[in-house]
Amino acid sequence: MTMKIAVLPGDGIGPEIITQALRVLEVLKNEGMAMEFTEAPLGGQAYDQYGHPYPEFTQKICRAADAVLLGAVGGPQYDNLDRPLRPERGLLGIRKDLGLFANLRPAVLYPELANASTLKPEVVAGLDIMIVRELTGDVYFGQPRGMRTNESGEREGFNTMVYSESEVRRIAHVAFDIAMKRGKKLCSVDKANVLETTEFWKEIVIDVAKEYPEVELSHMYVDNAAMQLIRNPKQFDVMVTGNIFGDILSDEASMLTGSIGMLASASLNETKKGLYEPSHGSAPDIAGKNLANPIATILSAAMMLRYTFDNEAAAVRIENAIKKVLAAGYRTGDIYEEGMKRVSCSEMGDQIVASM
Ligand code: IPM
Ligand code: MG
Repeated sequence: MTMKIAVLPGDGIGPEIITQALRVLEVLKNEGMAMEFTEAPLGGQAYDQYGHPYPEFTQKICRAADAVLLGAVGGPQYDNLDRPLRPERGLLGIRKDLGLFANLRPAVLYPELANASTLKPEVVAGLDIMIVRELTGDVYFGQPRGMRTNESGEREGFNTMVYSESEVRRIAHVAFDIAMKRGKKLCSVDKANVLETTEFWKEIVIDVAKEYPEVELSHMYVDNAAMQLIRNPKQFDVMVTGNIFGDILSDEASMLTGSIGMLASASLNETKKGLYEPSHGSAPDIAGKNLANPIATILSAAMMLRYTFDNEAAAVRIENAIKKVLAAGYRTGDIYEEGMKRVSCSEMGDQIVASM
């Protein structure tokens, strides 16, 4: 069966890093893995071509695909557009449209890059956390929302934090399943001391836990979790949380590794269809200069092979190719250290393709 992959280069450095990820996948394709790539625009690129950040053209291609590989979206030239036309809305739109409720954001520190973190090496060496973020609910999508003039004539903004039982159950199952395949420790992050939505979240997670007696479940308030991630991040194995807390904590966790250019992510629906993208943004300042680090995108392609196509061997092969290149001293600018071999985005791609 041919793997149908929608490719959305997006904005900024998106096209450059996607090019390198495709080169790595082409190695597998040339060896006989049946893959079909279809390109479509998303974000600012889509707005320029179609007047919408997630146009029908792209919707059709993504709905028909088994997996979507995305570069990045956004750029300063789009910041003043009406809210519904901004690149970020394209991203939120595709998540909702494809039902991508489970966002997996690994924060892994490669031993070769232990000095890249702003934290002491002994605090972060060997770090390997998986953040499971709910992605299609919470205050991001809750209704009603908007800006209005209230009864006393003052303007106000408002959003609704809401989670249904089925939404919490399905993300809890994803998190417990992942914990079972890792260190069997799951920390559910909430603000149950203040917010009913997350008190409810906690109650449901405790109920789902009955089906996973082997997993050690703990609970933490989000403010404490933010602190513990800096104080002693290695206490965590898998963390599960709602959309807004997950947005914030995953950025924090990524910086423990010091190299956001290395972190991949997967967003999955109920049928394991997934959108795969680097955790970093579109970096408009270095776009078009062949300076970006393509590794997060290449690792996202590896996650795609693992989670949507169940091909663990191919995923590991890509990950090992990257480890070899790092061990050999090749570094893009974002992870460069004295004494290493500084390479461009495409040269990093050359090295990884060669080490495949
Ligand atoms: C992320 C980003 C997005 C989010 C923005 C760009 C809409 O910050 O993927 O974490 O808030 O989900
Ligand atoms: Mg974010």
